[in-house]
Amino acid sequence: MIVSEGLVQLYIPESSQSKGPGKIGAGFYNRSQQINRDLTILFIRKSGVRTFLDGFGSTGARGFRVERETGVEVTVCEKNPESYRYLERNSILNRSSAILKMKDFQDEVRDVPYDFIDVDPYGSVVRYADDAIRNIRNGGYIAFTATDLSALTGSAPSKTFRRYGSRLPNDSTRHEAGIRNLIAYLAKRAAVFDRYIEPQMSFWKSHFYRVIIRVFKGTTGSDAMLKNLGFLNKNVEVSEIYPSVDEGPVWTECINNQDILQKIEVPDYLENKSQLERFLELMKNEDISRYFIDLRDIGKKLGTDIPSFNKVFESLYSAGISKFGRTEFSVTGLKMQEGYEQVIEVFTRKR
Ligand SMILES: C[S@@+](CC[C@H](N)C(=O)[O-])C[C@H]1O[C@@H](n2cnc3c(N)ncnc32)[C@H](O)[C@@H]1O
Repeated sequence: MIVSEGLVQLYIPESSQSKGPGKIGAGFYNRSQQINRDLTILFIRKSGVRTFLDGFGSTGARGFRVERETGVEVTVCEKNPESYRYLERNSILNRSSAILKMKDFQDEVRDVPYDFIDVDPYGSVVRYADDAIRNIRNGGYIAFTATDLSALTGSAPSKTFRRYGSRLPNDSTRHEAGIRNLIAYLAKRAAVFDRYIEPQMSFWKSHFYRVIIRVFKGTTGSDAMLKNLGFLNKNVEVSEIYPSVDEGPVWTECINNQDILQKIEVPDYLENKSQLERFLELMKNEDISRYFIDLRDIGKKLGTDIPSFNKVFESLYSAGISKFGRTEFSVTGLKMQEGYEQVIEVFTRKR
């Protein structure tokens, strides 16, 4: 069957699912990753890159969209011959000039330097991170899609420690912790090769994390970057309602590039326009603080109902606090640097 996404059309297998993590197999296509591809395109438009490698092509949904919707020079790699046939058909369907290669991603990045490499395998990115980091152009970008969320969040603790070397409590901040864990891993791998990274865009949606980083060469930068790895303790960082647990090591600095986020505009042709705008607004809040206070946690601790966000916001404004905002990592989460007592006070106020 043929589906439309963004400005391209794609032949995909009849058996493709419209929801959930997608069915692994030739011509893998996952509709629920459309927002991932949309945000990648919006980012690329503001990043000034000229060459893009879709290293894990499948139907070419990402590569063909990047070509059509950003105008950069695109190469698509796919190592599975059956999936490669989808790439060929979709190239003709879209009158694409993208270069197609039936080739392993690792071989391609060793052969050709790119400005932007997209790493979108099944599951974890750890098998591919080193090759991408070592071979990206200096100052270039790498985007990783990771779906091994049980390992990243700490919900499978031994796997979290084996794979990422970290210990995380898998509590209400699990998805921010998971993203910070992934960035920390990428930073450590970059340091091994005398490189350093700067996170550009980080988000979670249902079954996947997406992290776009910028990579530079340099030992001084690498040493400085390593200072951004450490342990976070929500009891100290956020509020005394949380137990004192050192979580990490995780990335302790910004997870988004606010300058690029401010410049991004969502064009009308994108079907998910309002959802994308909402996502971008929330991403602008993520660097207000490391982690967030979760209204559900306060309610549980005090044995009270959760007040509306409006009531909480009013209380913060009346205390002269204006730097706070909701987070993509929890529907009841609040990013803020000060004013935790005001938030708790709203819970105990007589209604
Ligand atoms: C999750 S799918 C990619 C989905 C695609 N990027 C999209 O947005 O629709 C992973 C694809 O990468 C291919 N693949 C896995 N390992 C690869 C490798 N080392 N080199 C190139 N392709 C690979 C698989 O055959 C599969 O088609």
